[in-house]
Order: sequence, then structure tokens, then C-alpha cells
Amino acid sequence: MEILSEWLSAQLEQESAEPVYRQLLHLMQQAILTGRLAPGTKLPSSRSLAGDLHVARNTVLHVYDQLSAEGYVLSTTGSGTYVADTRPDSAAVSLPPLDGADPAAETTAAASPRGDMSSRGQRLIDQAGVSAKQWGAFMPGVPDVAEFPARTWSRLQSRLWRSASHGLLTYAPGGGYRPLRRALSDYLRVARSVRCTPDQIIITTGIHQSIDLTVRLLADVGERAWVEEPCYWGARSVLQSSGLKLTPIPIDDEGLNPSEADLRDPPRIALVTPSHQYPLGMVMSLARRRTLLEYARQHKVWIIEDDYDSEFRYGSRPLASLQGLDDANQVIYVGSLGKLLFPGLRIGYMVVPERLAPIFRTGVAELYREGQLMQQAVLAEFIMDGYLTSHVRRMRTLYGERRQLLIDAVTRHFGDALPVMGEEAGLHFVLGLPEHADDRAVTAAALDAGVIVRPLTGYYNGEQKRQGLLTGYACVPHEEIEPAFATLARVIEEQVFARAPHAKRRAA
Ligand SMILES: Cc1ncc(COP(=O)(O)O)c(C=O)c1O
Repeated sequence: MEILSEWLSAQLEQESAEPVYRQLLHLMQQAILTGRLAPGTKLPSSRSLAGDLHVARNTVLHVYDQLSAEGYVLSTTGSGTYVADTRPDSAAVSLPPLDGADPAAETTAAASPRGDMSSRGQRLIDQAGVSAKQWGAFMPGVPDVAEFPARTWSRLQSRLWRSASHGLLTYAPGGGYRPLRRALSDYLRVARSVRCTPDQIIITTGIHQSIDLTVRLLADVGERAWVEEPCYWGARSVLQSSGLKLTPIPIDDEGLNPSEADLRDPPRIALVTPSHQYPLGMVMSLARRRTLLEYARQHKVWIIEDDYDSEFRYGSRPLASLQGLDDANQVIYVGSLGKLLFPGLRIGYMVVPERLAPIFRTGVAELYREGQLMQQAVLAEFIMDGYLTSHVRRMRTLYGERRQLLIDAVTRHFGDALPVMGEEAGLHFVLGLPEHADDRAVTAAALDAGVIVRPLTGYYNGEQKRQGLLTGYACVPHEEIEPAFATLARVIEEQVFARAPHAKRRAA
């Protein structure tokens, strides 16, 4: 027993922030699990262990009680405390696996996480577009969270917490906080020409969840979804991992442009970004909108309209939604506060046809167990008091200036050698690269140099891909734009032009 107390006293850290009781408990658990203390070993009395370790006897008594409660030791009054046999039941472990797989092969597979994944899980992870870095020049799709009126939010939040009723702190079945749904329906009617009542609005954690819910309620595994080519990687991931097959549909200057063959085979779902194609930035023309709506009506296709950042248009007024033209109730409109306020808020909304509203309310509660009513209440007040509109107005001016500074920088460094696509709206544009370029290599080299961009080719699902860089300007302070672009320009020079001397080089 002396050995146990010696080992324990060598391990105990007197200076540690972790109380002695917890340290002792963890050490003894570890000793039992690893076999250092074999089953059946009698533990020293609490008095002698406490003495050896110079700790209070009560501390050791508490540790023994806890070990006994968790099944590590067995205590019998009068005869002492013994280490329990915690080894896995050998009979149960040696049973053959249910599917008859070779246990040795399983051990090898378990060494690599790939072996643990379903095939759809593997595809999700292989194609993952999400990046660890979410902030800095020129991260696309991220608003300037430093400009968010945090004080106003905090004031509204404190007031609500002071008078919080129990209703705000529990689960939130029913599609979300009613006043928020009312505020959003007023906002969307005016700002986006969406036709809706508060009943048609369902609050979610964002566009990803809205798409997921729509697919689960309106499509079956194995059915097909049209996606734009190229499209947002997140939408692709959500659709695919819900078991849908994707058909990439080409886009041109007028938006979605399905071929005859595509049209002959109607999908269950068509996911589009008509007001600002993601990532290329074009607007779907009125003729294409009407064609798509008519096609959806005839073939019972659900259109998911992803309206992720339409408030930010710099040359003209924001464009009306596709949902506002839909007389056949085929459009599910999805939006988010992520780009307008801050992405970490994780509040989004969907507008569903009236007859579907009850099933969406039940579906969202059943699948995701909604909550966050307090956040939703703060947001409702934020919108009703006019802060959303004024924040968006202020950000539109700010982002418009940053966009112009970035375009000026592109022109200064490259003249018209690199086209800027989709620069009229949103939080990013695409900087086109020549065909011979490798946008993934440029992205990696830029990251090494401290600049974040995203490769356009990563957004395509088919073989034909354009080379380019998604370049965000919204979260980059004015004064950082030129120096950060100078770094990016150097990387592009090295990666694209220096390697192909015949290609058009930097403008004079
Ligand atoms: C086109 C598009 N849709 C949806 C999203 C994500 O929306 P949310 O954060 O609300 O899930 C993004 C984010 O970048 C996006 O670019």
C-alpha cells in the first residue's frame, strides 16, 4: 500500500487550480482503469492514506464514497474497501459481430476515421467547404461584426432579462417567437416584396437548417434537386447529406438556364439564389423567373429561394423576391440575419406557403427542439425599434465604399487583366483568373501570406469550371484593403503570371 500512496503523492500537484479532492479522485480512477490497482486489491484505510498524503481524512473519505458510488470500489462495513472488477465482460466481448465482419479488420478500420463513416458522411467530409479561419482580409461572405451596435443589443437584452417570463426560457414550439415573426413579416413585405403573414414565418437557426427542414418534409431520399452551377457549398452539403441526388444546372447572365434534357426530367427541389447568384453574382431575369415558376407549378417542383444577402445592392435598389411573384405556392423562401447582423447569431427564417405552415411548425419542433426565445425577443425589439433598418443602411454605405476601394486596388495592380464579376452587390466579388491558373494553389499560397480567399472551382459540381477567387471586402477596414490586396497581388503574380510568361501580365 505504501506504493499506492507514494505514486499518489508523486502525482498530486500542490499548486494546481484543481482541488485535491478532484485530483485524487481522477488519479484513483485512472489507476483502477489502467490496472495499476488490480481488481480485488484492498485500499488503505482512509486514515492511513490521508496521513501519507498529508490531506484531510474527510477528503479521502469523500473520494472513497465517490469511487464506491461510481462502481470503482466495493466497500464492506468492517472489512474495508476493495477495487471492483471493472474489466469488460469477456463473454460479451468475444461474441461475433452482428454483421459477421472480421473483428481484426474492424480494428484496422477503426484506426482511420474513414472506416467509421457512412458513405454520405465520407462525401460530406471529402467535399467540406468550411474553413477554420472566418475573419480577416478577404474572407468572403462575412459582414463587419465590429460595426454591430453591441451596446444597443446589450441594453435591449438586459431589459428583457430583467423582466423575463418563464415562457421565454423554455422550449419554443410553434415556429418561433410570435412578435419576431410579426416584425419579420412586416420587414420582408417592405424590403423584399415577400407576400406573407406572420403565420407563414418559421424561425430557424439559419439557412442551412431551413434547407434541411424543407428537404426532410418535402422530399424523399433518392429524389433529385437542381442546384445552380456553381453553387454555395453549404447548400450542396445539406442537400446531399439528406439523401438527395444533385443535378448541377448551368447559369448564364440571366441566371438558371436548364437544358432541354434537364427540363424533361423535373426534380423534386430546385435551389436558387435569384436576387444575387452565389457565388458569381448575376440576377435572375424576370423572364427566367416566370419560366421557372411556371415549370415548378406544372411539375410540382419545390423552389427554395435562398435570399442570403439581397439587402446589399450598391448600384440600384434591392430587387424583389421570386416568392413575391409566386401564385402557385411553390416557393419556400429562406433568409438569415447572419449577413445583416452577425453570423454567430444563428437566427434565420423561412416563409412557407400558408397550407404548409402547420407541418413546418411541427417539423421544426420535432426535429430540432427549438429554443433561444430570449435571443429572438431581443431581435424582435431590435427590428421593431428600427435598428435593423438603420444598421443595414449604414452597412450598405460602408460596404459600398470598401467594394470600391478593392476594385480600385485590382485595377491599380492588374488593369483589366483580371475581370471582376458580380461586383454590384453582396459582401464579395469574384476575381476571375486566366484559364491556365490553379485557383486552389493561389488560395493556399495566399493563406500562407496571411490573406484569405476562396477558389471558385470549389463551388462547381461538374467538370467544367472557371478559375477565380471569391474575394470578400465587407469585413476589411478601409485602410487594410490596399496593403492586403498588395499581398494578394504578389501571390497572383507569382502563382499565375510568373509561371506562364506568355500570359497577360500586370498592367503598366
Ligand atoms: C448563398 C448562401 N446561402 C446561405 C448561407 C449561410 O446561411 P446561414 O449562415 O444562415 O446558415 C451562406 C453563407 O455564406 C451563403 O453564402
